[in-house]
Amino acid sequence: MIKLDYKNVSSLVIGEKNGLNLENEFLEYKNRIKDIIIDLNQRKDKPGQWLQWMNLGYSEETVWYVKEFASMVEGRFENILVLGIGGSALGGIAVTEALLKPYWNLCSKEQRNNYPRIFFLDNIDPDSIKGLLDILDLKKTLVNVITKSGSTAETMSQYMIIKDMLEKELDDDYRKNIVVTTDQKIGVLRQLADQEGYKTFVIPDDVGGRFSVFSAVGLLPFALVGLDIDKIMSGIKDMDLALKNTDIFENIAAQGALINYLADTKLGKDISVMMPYSSRLRYISDWYVQLWAESLGKECNKNGEKVNVGTTPVKALGATDQHSQLQLYNEGPNNKLITFIRVENFDNTLEIPKIFEYTGIGYLGGKTINDLINAEADSTKVTLADHSRPAMTIFIDKVDEYNIAELMYMLEVQTAIAGELYNIDTFNQPGVEQAKNYTYALMGRAGYEDSAMNLQSKISSV
Ligand code: PA5
Repeated sequence: MIKLDYKNVSSLVIGEKNGLNLENEFLEYKNRIKDIIIDLNQRKDKPGQWLQWMNLGYSEETVWYVKEFASMVEGRFENILVLGIGGSALGGIAVTEALLKPYWNLCSKEQRNNYPRIFFLDNIDPDSIKGLLDILDLKKTLVNVITKSGSTAETMSQYMIIKDMLEKELDDDYRKNIVVTTDQKIGVLRQLADQEGYKTFVIPDDVGGRFSVFSAVGLLPFALVGLDIDKIMSGIKDMDLALKNTDIFENIAAQGALINYLADTKLGKDISVMMPYSSRLRYISDWYVQLWAESLGKECNKNGEKVNVGTTPVKALGATDQHSQLQLYNEGPNNKLITFIRVENFDNTLEIPKIFEYTGIGYLGGKTINDLINAEADSTKVTLADHSRPAMTIFIDKVDEYNIAELMYMLEVQTAIAGELYNIDTFNQPGVEQAKNYTYALMGRAGYEDSAMNLQSKISSV
C-alpha cells in the first residue's frame, strides 16, 4: 500500500507562518471529511453524478472484452497508434511510460516480448503528425481512436487523415486496423463507427475524460502492449477499499486533499507541484496536472457564487529539476505545496565504479545511482524545509501495475475530495468546452455560425 508522509507540512517543522497544525486540522475536519467520503460513495451509482469512475476497478466485463480483443489481434500488428487528446490520452501515456520497458519503441521485437510499439498522437502539430506517419507502416498499425464526445476536432481530424491513408493502402480491409473507444450512444464517431463496422469499446456514462484511464480508454492500449490489467484492477480495488475508510487519520487521499485545500485557503500556497523522483513517473505528473487543473479550477461554487478557485498544478521531475526549478522553490515566493513521489525499490541497482579514486569525483565510486537519487530527494526535502516550504511525499514500493493503479486512483479520489472541500463541481469543464466550441465555430461547423462571426471580429480586433 502506498504511503503519505506529510511531516514537512507541519508547523512544528516549518513554522506557523507556512505550516499547518495538522493534528488540530485533522480533528477539526474529521466530521466534514467523513461526510464527504460517505456522500461520494453514496452518490457514485446515481446517474448524472459523474462518479462512475469509482466503479471502474470492478468492471470485470470490460477486462474480459479487452483481453478477448487483445488476444484476437496478438501478433498481427507492429504498432499501436492511439489518437486522443486530454483525458483520452494522458492516462495512457502516463501508464505506458511508467510500466513498459524504458525506451520501449526502440527495443527489438524480442525485447518487447513480441508486443507492438505504441505511439500517442495527442496534438495537432502538422509536422509531428507527418513525421510519425512517415515512419509508421500503417498496414501493420492498429489505430485506436479514443474520444468520449466523439467529435473533438483534434482527434477527428487525425482520424480522417489516417482513415483516408489506410483505405488507400488496404482497400476494404482498412476497417480491421481501426478500433474505436467512445460513448455508447452519442457523438459523430459512434455513428461513423457503427456505419463503418469498426470494433468499438465503450467509455461508460458518467466517467469524464480525466477520470477515464481505468476504463477501456486505458485498459485496451495497456492490454495490447502486454501490461497486466488484472494487476491494475487489483491495485484500484485495494486502494478503493482503503479509501472507503472515513477516518481522516487513516485515509491518505483525504489527508492529501485537506492539506492541499488548507495550504491554499489558509496559507496562500496556490501552486501545487508534483515532483516524482523517477523518470518513469514523469508523465504521471502530466496526467495529474490535467486531473487537478480541470477538476478544481472553477469560476463558481455549487451555490452559483463566483469563487474562482483552484490551485495551479506544476510538474517537476527529480532530480532533473533540482537544476532548473529548485532555486525558485527555495527562494522565490513561498506560494507552493510540493508533493514528491518516491520509489522505494527501483527495478535495477546501478553501481558507480570505483574509479578516479583520487579525484574530486572519487567519493561517488562504490555507491549506486540509487543512493544518489535518494540522497538528492532527501536533500531537496530538507532544503525546502530549511526555507520553510511545505512538502509531502508519496512513497510507492515499486513501479508496477499494482502500485501505479493504486497511486493514480488515490490521486483521483484526492481530487474528488478536494473538490468537495472547495464546494465546486469537480467533474465539469465549461472552460474547456468553451474553447472547443470556439474552434468548431472557427472551423465552420454547422450550428456555430453566429459564434463564428462574433469570434472573427474579436480576433481581428486583437
Ligand atoms: O477531461 C476532459 O474531459 C477533457 O480533457 C477531454 O478528455 C478532452 O477534451 C478530450 O475530449 P474527448 O475525449 O471528448 O475527445
